[in-house]
Amino acid sequence: MATSRTMSGEYQQAYERSMTDPDGFWREAAALIDWEREPETIMDSSALPFSRWFGGGELNTCHNALDRHVDAGRGDQPALIHDSPVTESVTTFTYTELRDLVARFAGVLRSVGVGKGDRVVIYMPMVPEAVIAMLACARLGAVHSVVFGGFAARELAVRIDDARPSAIVSASCGIEGKRVIEYKPLLDKAIDLAEHDPGRSIVLQRPQFQGEMTDRDVDWAEAMSTAEPTECVPVAATDPLYVLYTSGTTGKPKGVQRDNGGHAVALRWSMEAIYDIHPGETFFCASDVGWVVGHSYIVYAPLLTGATTVLYEGKPIGTPDAGQFWRVIAQHGVKALFTAPTAFRGIKKEDPDAALLAEYDLSGFETLFLAGERLDPETYHWATEKLGVPVIDHWWQTETGWAIAANPRGLEPLEIKPGSPSVPVPGYQVEILDVDGSPLPAGEEGAIVIKLPLPPACLQTLWDDDERFRESYMSRYEGYYLTGDGGYIDADGYVFVMGRTDDVINVAGHRLSTGSMEEVLAGHPDVAECAVIGVNDQMKGQVPRGFVVLKAGVTRGEDEIGPELVALVRSEVGAVASFKNVAVVPALPKTRSGKVLRKTMRQIADGEDAMVPSTIDDASVLDTLRPVLEKGPAGG
Ligand code: COA
Ligand code: AMP
Repeated sequence: MATSRTMSGEYQQAYERSMTDPDGFWREAAALIDWEREPETIMDSSALPFSRWFGGGELNTCHNALDRHVDAGRGDQPALIHDSPVTESVTTFTYTELRDLVARFAGVLRSVGVGKGDRVVIYMPMVPEAVIAMLACARLGAVHSVVFGGFAARELAVRIDDARPSAIVSASCGIEGKRVIEYKPLLDKAIDLAEHDPGRSIVLQRPQFQGEMTDRDVDWAEAMSTAEPTECVPVAATDPLYVLYTSGTTGKPKGVQRDNGGHAVALRWSMEAIYDIHPGETFFCASDVGWVVGHSYIVYAPLLTGATTVLYEGKPIGTPDAGQFWRVIAQHGVKALFTAPTAFRGIKKEDPDAALLAEYDLSGFETLFLAGERLDPETYHWATEKLGVPVIDHWWQTETGWAIAANPRGLEPLEIKPGSPSVPVPGYQVEILDVDGSPLPAGEEGAIVIKLPLPPACLQTLWDDDERFRESYMSRYEGYYLTGDGGYIDADGYVFVMGRTDDVINVAGHRLSTGSMEEVLAGHPDVAECAVIGVNDQMKGQVPRGFVVLKAGVTRGEDEIGPELVALVRSEVGAVASFKNVAVVPALPKTRSGKVLRKTMRQIADGEDAMVPSTIDDASVLDTLRPVLEKGPAGG
């Protein structure tokens, strides 16, 4: 266990300065970035809730991630290591090699008409070309929108219609464990479903499955062979770098928009302050480039720092065994690993004694970082005991782009309290409010909010929808950003995150909307109404459970309709939803105003004390449902 210190040292000083002198604090951090034109202002909060960071500044994020490291003599250092147990290959790209590939792919994008400000949807598995495509967009000043490969065609189509891209970059297939997932047919279907015409699609053909090419498609390899390398196009610090869709409480995903300047500064700063990773060191973030964790800590932060990043195309278990994380750490000299607790629950289940650890030399490994969902104490203790390094929980969201609360290992290692992601990160004024907006004392649970302005790298707005941005995050409590999480802060200033207060669920570290699953169920011809709730699951944290009421006159029952509904969610939302349980029920419990009592249902299913609101319409409906909820999912 690492030495713990009290909060009087470097963390406290940095935190206080970020609160009392934010301009000075972030001006200093901005010196870690190359500017084409120095910012005139640091933070402009005149248009709150919208904040603008580094106004007047110009930069290029790709230059900061690649070219400047080559210019500074890091050209021969590995920038990206693609470690792929599913294809049994390891490929290393130096900074010079990666820069050259990115410059050429930017040329390909330009040749199909992509320019500054245009959107490019990227729908790819964990291949180096996904990173190359993202950085090539940044090089051109175009705005990428990466869609997680586990989402089905309909979800991709919704994102295409919202982002209105000028081009799409995809691959013929992904490899999930032993299965080959054919992406190209999904891409074609999504383009058919979408109303927006996305222009050309550049397709990486992989040997495991060759997609059928149409007139719209451009072959990645062919296009690269003749591409002209392209220079970095300077953009305003406040111009968008990317839009990343995340689940909200409705079926329509939210397009989180992030800028270039604030993002580069905060992520570069976080790499040393939070993760204690310096130029030349190796970082392994086992997430997916389709999620925010992958954007920030597989791609941008390590490369902005001049570190080496590992892109892992495999699973924590089953590709082929539960020792793969240890192998990657030993083989590539990884200093810190960042993943989701669910990955460790998987490893623990397969190899409870962590016997496979003995096969690898982990002497250079210093820290395990976990995020994406609550870190249960059992997993925390197991990982700490088996690895013998500090296990650091930290809490953040797609919207913030980096940690809100963490134990800042580079600034000052603080005491670890199991169950807490530790303390607010410099830049974040975290508070707990009650329903009326009054601050709550230490230890009392309420809504976790962040006082405006948000620090750099947090969302600028929702893509093309300022109104939804205000309404979703900024309207509940005037002057505060609503995180959507509930929790408390203890007397030592440690934050405890207890879970979402809305209809967002977290399945194996994947954020999903019950609303989008309900939309799919409601679309079945036999379904009159439905509800989807997230219930506790030992492995995945949460899994969804569906409850449907059938239309009058439907004679078929759960045994027939249930599997149809499961298949429907899998094909419309994606396998990643892990939607495997649905029950046909006579009615759903509601308030008198017609709101389904999802929270009460979830509490009963999880075996908690259920709060039954006094506004319940017909208590007998809940009584009938109770045994179904308590029994748990059949076969689940
Ligand atoms: N493309 C296509 N399908 C995908 C996919 C992708 N990129 N990612 C996941 N899926 C599929 C899986 O194959 C699985 O399908 P199945 O129902 O046919 O088995 C389904 O979606 C659920 O996947 P997952 O949630 O990954 O669970 P799993 O049962 O395959 O694996 C663990 C179990 C323990 C390995 C898993 O919980 C895990 O570690 N996931 C990764 C966590 C993570 O990195 N989260 C990112 C946040 S930081
Ligand atoms: P995402 O936007 O996919 O990163 O998911 C963000 C949500 O995941 C948060 O709002 C939390 O509900 C949950 N989450 C992320 N990290 C943690 C953590 N360390 N502890 C508890 N919940 C977390």
